[in-house]
Amino acid sequence: MRSVLVAGGAGFIGTHFTEYLLNKGFKVFSVDNFSTGKPENIKRFLGDPNYTFEEMDIVKGVPKGKFDFIVDLASPASPQKYLSLPVETMLVNSVGVLNLLNLAKENRSRFLLASTSEVYGDPEVHPQREDYWGHVNPIGPRSVYDEGKRFAEAITMAFYRYEKLDVRIARIFNTYGPYMDVGDGRIIPNFAYQALTGKPITIYGDGSQTRSFCYVSDMVEGLFLLMTLDGLEGEVVNLGNPDERTVKEVADLICEILNVPKNYEYLPLPQDDPKKRKPDITKAKKLLNWSPKVDFETGLRKTLEWYKEVLNVGKDV
Ligand SMILES: NC(=O)c1ccc[n+]([C@@H]2O[C@H](COP(=O)([O-])OP(=O)(O)OC[C@H]3O[C@@H](n4cnc5c(N)ncnc54)[C@H](O)[C@@H]3O)[C@@H](O)[C@H]2O)c1
Repeated sequence: MRSVLVAGGAGFIGTHFTEYLLNKGFKVFSVDNFSTGKPENIKRFLGDPNYTFEEMDIVKGVPKGKFDFIVDLASPASPQKYLSLPVETMLVNSVGVLNLLNLAKENRSRFLLASTSEVYGDPEVHPQREDYWGHVNPIGPRSVYDEGKRFAEAITMAFYRYEKLDVRIARIFNTYGPYMDVGDGRIIPNFAYQALTGKPITIYGDGSQTRSFCYVSDMVEGLFLLMTLDGLEGEVVNLGNPDERTVKEVADLICEILNVPKNYEYLPLPQDDPKKRKPDITKAKKLLNWSPKVDFETGLRKTLEWYKEVLNVGKDV
């Protein structure tokens, strides 16, 4: 039975990835320091003989053991969270990644890094392809995350080049779905919370900025393929859904599905907020034979059902 160390296994994507791996018959060893993840998220795995969890900060240490695969999903991911944990974010994406890479080197494990579309910054090239180097402000507030992830990518590639380690890098674009913390601060949980609790929906700028949203089941399938397929050493692959929407469109759709009034409050755009975001997934299609299957409205309905449950609001969206 093949084993996987999942760092950040109590987070949003970590939880879904764990479930996917257990269903595929893998042994999962999960670590998390609960800085943004929650113990409730992993409750459903406890008792599964193929699942082990240890509370651990990967900046301070890594578990002992030999794993076939090491997957690094540990990092605050939403602007609200990484801006409130700036130094922790930089450390987990530098020292934390280094610790996992050293462990991978010791046992010759295959290493998968969860990077982000934020490495492209506020992009001047649209849609973003993997060979675009990005437009990032190294000293802006968001740099703790953007530059943290750029460092994480650089050190991962250093282990590939100089240590001949089998590494892969996923550049994840906005992903959403159940288990994304309602207080996470990202657009879908924010809008869902506001719409479900009768508060005005806060739109930054005029809402014409775009994002592309990938449902989490598609994301974990892409991550799994990138982790398991042979012959992809050193590859960097965009994973996301190219279905581009304006922020205003997202708010409109959420209100329409929930059948609530479109009550919007417009606030100034945060500094260095990207104006557009859309992955070019040609490479993922070619290398992984992967593309997202869940359309935005279907994914949104499932996600809103979950937020209704969590917030204890009447069902039947
Ligand atoms: N969700 C998205 O849209 C998205 C987009 C781009 C990239 N990503 C990347 O995917 C990964 C997972 O994101 P997510 O959305 O699940 O975020 P999340 O915040 O839900 O999960 C991250 C997990 O990492 C844990 N963690 C943080 N620092 C740690 C440390 N020092 N030691 C151990 N655990 C630690 C947190 O407690 C949390 O459980 C992150 O690396 C993120 O940068 C996510």
